[in-house]
Amino acid sequence: MSVSEKMISALERASWVRKMFEEGAIRKEKYGPENVFDFSLGNPNLDPPAKLKETLNKLLAEDAPGVHGYMPNAGFLKTRKAVAEYLTDLNHHSFGSEDIVMTVGAAGALNVLLKAILNPEDEVIVPKPYFMEYNFYIDNNGGIPKTVNTQPDFSLDIPSIENAIGPKTKAVLINNPNNPTGKVYSKEELDKLGGLLSRYSEKYGETIYLISDEPYSKIIYNGCVCPSVFDAYKESILVTSFSKDLSLAGERIGYIAINPMISEKDTIVELLSMCNRILGYVNAPALMQRAMPFLLNDSVDVSLYENKRNILANGLKEAGYDFDLPDGTFYLFPKSPIPDDVEFVHALQEENILTVPGSAFGGPGHFRIAYCVADQTIKGALPGFARTMKKYK
Ligand SMILES: Cc1ncc(COP(=O)(O)O)c(C=O)c1O
Repeated sequence: MSVSEKMISALERASWVRKMFEEGAIRKEKYGPENVFDFSLGNPNLDPPAKLKETLNKLLAEDAPGVHGYMPNAGFLKTRKAVAEYLTDLNHHSFGSEDIVMTVGAAGALNVLLKAILNPEDEVIVPKPYFMEYNFYIDNNGGIPKTVNTQPDFSLDIPSIENAIGPKTKAVLINNPNNPTGKVYSKEELDKLGGLLSRYSEKYGETIYLISDEPYSKIIYNGCVCPSVFDAYKESILVTSFSKDLSLAGERIGYIAINPMISEKDTIVELLSMCNRILGYVNAPALMQRAMPFLLNDSVDVSLYENKRNILANGLKEAGYDFDLPDGTFYLFPKSPIPDDVEFVHALQEENILTVPGSAFGGPGHFRIAYCVADQTIKGALPGFARTMKKYK
């Protein structure tokens, strides 16, 4: 075959989330969409805030010259300034427009960043369970993912991270709040991690970066806050997007923010811009960049997700499922009642309930429920969840 063998093999290990999505399409055709309870995909079901449409209408009417043309690869200066001001208000640090690069979602941000920092075979430590696309993003850019365990409650296991650090470690990549567990790492955990990375950067004479991927940072409950990675460590970089908190996943808009105090800042800034260009993104979508300054303090109504979480959690508890109620994201990650999470996910499928096995995230013995769906879907699925549990109890 004259195509990439590596990609063919990647295709064969095709993502579970996709598999479930395809299974869902088949079942919806067969049983009718109202009879299939699809919790497989983290595709937000809430509409973006009304302000988005108003903002876009205003911008479209403006017709300013050059707004559809090329721009600096890092993005419009006005947008980067607005993001910098927003982050300055949010953190104890003073950001400038030079600290921000607008990107094609968080996925684009991660690829740009990894391309900018990785040498061949550099290692990136990732606590598991984790968003499996990280494997591809790290590999795309010549690196090697090195996964480490978390604690039973999915908080960071600092000794495990320490054991994994070696001379080839270039970065630790965390996702806060976490997909698939919903865990929000605390300030104390981040501070410990920052202290650890300072010590080992000094030991090896090379910076180890702390990358925090935070597309869910506004989808957070019970007055919980997602602590700032910038407070924890000087060599820190935030990647994020508006895909989840503004329900704009299809519009592909996000950004990278580097710690204003980061070492070798001028070089990093230049590299990020260049990597945005040569990866073929060139720049983030122009219209979305013009809209974002008006929406930085907005989000979908997070209380609606909280309500969905509560309906689901109450129903599952009653049915005997075991899980910690997470403080963030729109995912629940219960224990499978049998060790084989794939078998359990297949059993749920028999009830037309589509979830994803924890193994697909490096978290076997669990399964992920993406509850960014209609309340009716959650309520409709609860009897099937209960019947499936009964089979195994
Ligand atoms: C943890 C995590 N990081 C990154 C992404 C990619 O986000 P985006 O759509 O902004 O590229 C996702 C999407 O589901 C995610 O869950």
